[in-house]
Amino acid sequence: MQIRSLASSDEAFSDWYAVYQSAHSADYPSGPRFLERELRVTYEGHEHQDTKLWLAENGGRAVGAALLGLPLKDNLKLAEPEVWVRPEARRRGIGTALLETAEACAHEYRRSSALTYLEGPSAHPTTSGTAFVEHHGYSRRIVEIARVQRPPFDLNAITKAEEEAKPHAAGYEVLTWRGRAPDDYIDEYARLEARMSTDAPLGELDYEAEIWDEARVRRSEERAERMNRGHWTAAAMAPDGTMAGLTRVVLAHDSDATGFQDTTLVDPVHRGHRLGLLLKAANFRNLLRDRPGVQTIWTWNADSNTHMIAINEMLGYRVEGWAAGYQREL
Ligand SMILES: CC(C)(COP(=O)(O)OP(=O)(O)OC[C@H]1O[C@@H](n2cnc3c(N)ncnc32)[C@H](O)[C@@H]1OP(=O)(O)O)[C@@H](O)C(=O)NCCC(=O)NCCS
Repeated sequence: MQIRSLASSDEAFSDWYAVYQSAHSADYPSGPRFLERELRVTYEGHEHQDTKLWLAENGGRAVGAALLGLPLKDNLKLAEPEVWVRPEARRRGIGTALLETAEACAHEYRRSSALTYLEGPSAHPTTSGTAFVEHHGYSRRIVEIARVQRPPFDLNAITKAEEEAKPHAAGYEVLTWRGRAPDDYIDEYARLEARMSTDAPLGELDYEAEIWDEARVRRSEERAERMNRGHWTAAAMAPDGTMAGLTRVVLAHDSDATGFQDTTLVDPVHRGHRLGLLLKAANFRNLLRDRPGVQTIWTWNADSNTHMIAINEMLGYRVEGWAAGYQREL
């Protein structure tokens, strides 16, 4: 067995992706999946995040795949490994060899903590992945529950909940847009993005606030476009012109299969006005106007985030699986 490094722009990345697909399908067939073209962009590296990739081959056949994410502007002590092995090649040490390769690289970059996320269906609270990382000394620091919204959507119930919420949000204006954030709101938007990295419950995770500014927002929007993904956003503006809250859904331009709810935040000073519900309801309608055929929207919440979970349940989200953050000092 040989391990070699590669870049996401290499032709061999298709082999890397095939391993990712087969490992993922074995452990979580109903789970959300990124497309090859999306991962090629995600892993190409940029000023805020570098990503190293490795492929394990046996007799010329790709059997294992790994990556190491390296934050470059914040969380400089962190390294984020991920490992996948084809089902028929497991329990032969390939995963361990790949993880050791990734962790050695983390040492070279002077990272002192490794963080990895695992996921699975509700029916299986433990997987090959949880056994593997625990074997390698990682401990579970946070568990999030994955929920999915699927058609038919109960828009009457959503409208009713919105009507009940509106009197609590007098003075706030909810704006929606598709694609790039409007220039007028970009600084406030970046401020809330940074808050998002630490305001959602973090459990026992050792994670610091991310640094976001206009340039980072614009670059992440450009990457999403190159992945051929659309963005739908709703923002609540307070009477003094500051942004009080934000929510965003992403969905591939050419597929209705898998939407992701990737940010929802209400600034702590503006909580208690039902803005979370009003934002998500407005944004859902914003999305449906363009994409009435959307099949799934995935969202993840820490168990302790009872308020957000209540909003999601009202919108029709139902439990589907879990995601857990495991960390270890290197
Ligand atoms: C997790 C995964 C990468 C392990 O790959 P692998 O090549 O089978 O791992 P190894 O052979 O190096 O296993 C090392 C040890 O981990 C533990 N382990 C791995 N898989 C296990 C399983 N299914 N059940 C129980 N223990 C397991 C064992 O202690 C094993 O040692 P042993 O075989 O001597 O008992 C592979 O199962 C996979 O691709 N799973 C889906 C993706 C995933 O969850 N990745 C998470 C890692 S970040």
